[in-house]
Amino acid sequence: MHSQYPLIERYRDFLPVSATTPIISLGEGNTPLIRASNLHHFLGAPSLKLYLKLEGLNPTGSFKDRGMTLAISKAVESGAKAVICASTGNTSASAAAFATKAGLTCYVLLPHGHVALGKLAQAILYGARIIPIKGNFDQALEFVRNLADQCHITIVNSVNPYRLEGQKTAAFEVVEQLEGVPDYLLIPVGNAGNISAYWRGFKLLRKTGGANATPHMFGFEAQGAAAIVRGQPIANPETIATAIRIGNPASWQEAIKAASESDGQIDSVTDDQIIEAYKLLAKLEGIFCEPSSAACLAGLIKHLSMGTIAKDATVVCVLTGNGLKDPDTPLKVSNVDLAPVEADLQKLKTVMGF
Ligand code: F0G
Repeated sequence: MHSQYPLIERYRDFLPVSATTPIISLGEGNTPLIRASNLHHFLGAPSLKLYLKLEGLNPTGSFKDRGMTLAISKAVESGAKAVICASTGNTSASAAAFATKAGLTCYVLLPHGHVALGKLAQAILYGARIIPIKGNFDQALEFVRNLADQCHITIVNSVNPYRLEGQKTAAFEVVEQLEGVPDYLLIPVGNAGNISAYWRGFKLLRKTGGANATPHMFGFEAQGAAAIVRGQPIANPETIATAIRIGNPASWQEAIKAASESDGQIDSVTDDQIIEAYKLLAKLEGIFCEPSSAACLAGLIKHLSMGTIAKDATVVCVLTGNGLKDPDTPLKVSNVDLAPVEADLQKLKTVMGF
């Protein structure tokens, strides 16, 4: 199907819309599911069927667009004039883009100093009202909940029920693209909305006869922000994966249900494991994702070595955001010599080793 076809139209029967709901679309969804060609060999699992869902190819560069098309369409339908969100970056970029398309004002509260440059750049150019706060995401979300209530602005964080309803469509696509259900679905966990949304989607497909099974759901938090794994909120979450730098996930209980009902797990991975996976995806598969997205590959590596995931399984890793959003991290984690060379053919040959 043409990628510009609105997600809401494709999955209308499964979404809370009516014939009169206005559709605000930027051509979201229908993202590629790519089979890995090198990683499984590198990981010593040549029979592993590893697929990568490239959610960074959504219009604003992350999976957030799936939920945002619905949240903003419903906001317009209800007569809203403004929307608001707290964000580690991607939600703000997505909200700002869809809001401006719909003619709505968009307020975004960001944790100052912890939002990747590309995401901030997007929100600026889409014309959002950006308010950096001296606090973390969890604090920003608390303010947003109060502001939404007191100022009658529609909240478009994933506590808005339409967000997860839209995001569940990714599970439909995975099953369509694989022509079947994977054994495992691996996904990063921050505010825990996306894992909850996928699980809704898979369960709905099984219920309505679109699939005869569901995958084991494995979600991965960053170790310094692993509230669910530790079983208690973290006041000062820290991780290089700023998108999932969250210490009190809003969809905590639904994520736990997704893991337990599917016989899966919520686990954590260290920043070093995340960066290793981030580099492997780029170097072996030619895929540039965000550090946070790489948490699911880090988790796969961990669970293959633990034996919790079989080496011949069919596995889908959800790469949630585009690496271009975060142009600083590659420079921080690589040792490349970028000192300029004289503009001289012989010198160039010498540098190249010829
Ligand atoms: N990956 C990326 C690239 C994200 O931006 C996020 C969340 C996640 C994974 C985790 O998804 O929160 O549904 O568990 N970003 C939010 C934001 C919090 O504000 O952009 P989740």
